Amino acid sequence: MIRIIDNQYFVLETRNTSYIFGVLPTGQLEHMYYGKKITVLYSEADSEEDKIYLDGLRERHVFMPGNSNAYDPDHMQYTLQDMRLEMSSFGKGDSREPFIVIRHADGSVTSDFIFDSAKIKKGGLTLETLPTAYDEKEETETLSVTLKDVHYDLSLQLNYTVYADSNVITRNAILKNTSNEEIVIKRLLSNQIDFGSKDFNMASFTGAWTREMHRSDTRLLNGKHSVSSCHGSSSNFANPFTFLYRDGANEDCGEVYGFNLIYSGNHYEAAEVSGFGKTRFVQGINPEGFDWTLSTGEVFEAPESFMTFSAAGFNGMSQNMHHFIRNHIVRGFWKKKERPILLNSWEAAYFNISEAKLLKLAKAGKEVGIELFVMDDGWFGERNDDTSSLGDWDVNPKKLPHGLKGLCDKVRALGMDFGIWVEPEMVNANSKLYREHPDWTLEIPGKPHSEGRNQRVLDLGRTEVQDFIIKKMTEVFSSADISYVKWDMNRTMTDIYSGALSYANEGETAHRYMIGLYRVMKELTETFPAILFEGCSAGGNRFDPGILCYFPQIWGSDDTDAVARCEIETGYSYGYPLSTVTAHVSDVPNHQTLRKTPLETRFNVAAFGVLGYECNLCDMKKEELDAIKQQIAFYKEWRTLFFNGEFYRRRTMYDSLQRGNSVLETLPGNEIEWNVVSLDKKKAISFFMHLLTTPGYETGRIKPAGLRENVRYHLYNRELKYDIRDFGNLVNTVSPIHVKQDTLLLDLIAKKVKLDGEKEDLHLYGDTLMNAGAFLAPAFASTGYNNEVRPFTDFASRIYVIEEE
Ligand code: DGJ
Repeated sequence: MIRIIDNQYFVLETRNTSYIFGVLPTGQLEHMYYGKKITVLYSEADSEEDKIYLDGLRERHVFMPGNSNAYDPDHMQYTLQDMRLEMSSFGKGDSREPFIVIRHADGSVTSDFIFDSAKIKKGGLTLETLPTAYDEKEETETLSVTLKDVHYDLSLQLNYTVYADSNVITRNAILKNTSNEEIVIKRLLSNQIDFGSKDFNMASFTGAWTREMHRSDTRLLNGKHSVSSCHGSSSNFANPFTFLYRDGANEDCGEVYGFNLIYSGNHYEAAEVSGFGKTRFVQGINPEGFDWTLSTGEVFEAPESFMTFSAAGFNGMSQNMHHFIRNHIVRGFWKKKERPILLNSWEAAYFNISEAKLLKLAKAGKEVGIELFVMDDGWFGERNDDTSSLGDWDVNPKKLPHGLKGLCDKVRALGMDFGIWVEPEMVNANSKLYREHPDWTLEIPGKPHSEGRNQRVLDLGRTEVQDFIIKKMTEVFSSADISYVKWDMNRTMTDIYSGALSYANEGETAHRYMIGLYRVMKELTETFPAILFEGCSAGGNRFDPGILCYFPQIWGSDDTDAVARCEIETGYSYGYPLSTVTAHVSDVPNHQTLRKTPLETRFNVAAFGVLGYECNLCDMKKEELDAIKQQIAFYKEWRTLFFNGEFYRRRTMYDSLQRGNSVLETLPGNEIEWNVVSLDKKKAISFFMHLLTTPGYETGRIKPAGLRENVRYHLYNRELKYDIRDFGNLVNTVSPIHVKQDTLLLDLIAKKVKLDGEKEDLHLYGDTLMNAGAFLAPAFASTGYNNEVRPFTDFASRIYVIEEE
């Protein structure tokens, strides 16, 4: 709900939060409060008493602090440097991170926006150029506050939309040039929030290829801390999702503020602690390398950002973010639909594909229960490696003699859906497309280009390039009964320069690319509403809410190693729901790390995402295929819970970092525990994993969260069988004859004799499970083994089912 009181106070309320700001005597907007919902008395008549209530939230400024500048002679006690502002213009005494910087026609870079008017409208924000959040139920409201520059004819609209059910408020800014002169926007951000204290930490999610979303925390001290991307995509170096938390907050309690941006390009997040002990957070398009010329009558739209507050720790904040992304970002046919379990050809075959090879793999997939077969890279032009053919989207007849349709029909005849890989935003210099249109790429004519994966980025700011991609992809997607598309984008931008723009407009290139990309994505997803699109960018190089407005799921990382993935998925879970992160079970030794992890762990980790397989099933042993068959059957039975459930981090690898423990100590850091609970709290699944086995720590315990307190639950595990070869020479302690390692005899025995895994069968009340936890069967510790012992090797994990009785 939104209230405007006396045309000078603005009160925005979600289910559990309040956000309040007001007009200062100087005309700027003062940020008054954001946090846990507070009582604000107001009546329709806007009584005197109400005003007093709100006045208590205002800072009192009586004298001008020494050595600072008064805003104007009429308000000598107000120095903007020490105000909590909703929006800060550059040049009038506030030297902190500005919200807006404009170079005016007279060369000045000083702006002075003050309050003009405000109105509330039903519904969410809609933008001409960029995607926005939406509300299917049409329950939202948007507050638009218009500010006008005191000296120039410019109007700035600040928009606030309240998504009460998710505890989320979105913000955006739209600048209109109503003057007769051209201006240059050097910076226009989307969100600014000024907190009155400096007791914050900032968590950001940084990394690189195959190491996405690693949480990194900084205690905010006087000065600035920022993360950003200038790579042309939201990037794996720093995700736009970030959160601030007050000292002492942890997974389950404490005050946490989460922020994200509905944008897939260059972004910027900064927190600054001022000399006056206040903390400013800003987020928006990265001003680095950006400027935008705005002519008379033109409008510039900043992306929509969104924020949430929770007093229930990081998990509370994450759950708000998950709710918002599920309900107000992801849309279309697949929004609420469970996703098919796919088998992707990439790690099984790389570029070396043919119809016969793919069909063999697809058949093996069908036998274990795969629902969708995906042909990855290598099917078009002369694409035998990554040096050629991007841009030439015609089937390679040597690899697929019967075309896409021929292969697709055969896969469908096996009883599976069929999907393909494309990378439409790119071109190899070695391609027909590049030879025909060398000017269609982002590169500086006549200058050497910094290559990435042997390919160049098409200039999606050009309408003719957008039209080409839409036409070509429409042809490809309609050429067979395609039900899934993996949309890849494998390099970041360098040499950013558009041949279509003039000298004065070159700073617009990267943002124009995004506007063009969104047009392409919108048109194709509208033309093919039933196709399941999966975003990808060399893994998670463009994992953000902008992409999720069109594609309901994104490939989380090219790293399929279960240990690395466990950390990556933990990272995503802070800001994104499980239903948006795709994860695959792959072969060992793993192709990115050469690590061997148990098949069970590979499944358990991938199941806490959108499950897929990416391995050579044709080369697998029968017992592995049997295990996969059981995994898939289990996932089919429980996928609604993974897809819709409320997710909780119980223990993470970050625990050890925060507490300064070594990873080998079993308690914090070495053990990871997550759980997911159905919305009616009748069912839950817990995941428990450790990294390295530590002798002397046989005891294992899980403590799921989110259950009902005085309801009895049954906790049990999946039936697992163990290979006696995993026990090495110990087999001779029970074998009547001596058996040597690595012999045919041992292989023969291993085929016949399987060891039963431990059985869990506990009956506990919800409050017991959540507060005391449940002890698991003790881990193997050399002194004995039977089916009450949990063989827990390095990187072992389990999932446990919890059902209301
Ligand atoms: C990068 C992706 O992330 C991989 O999964 C695979 O699709 C390759 N590109 C194909 O070139």
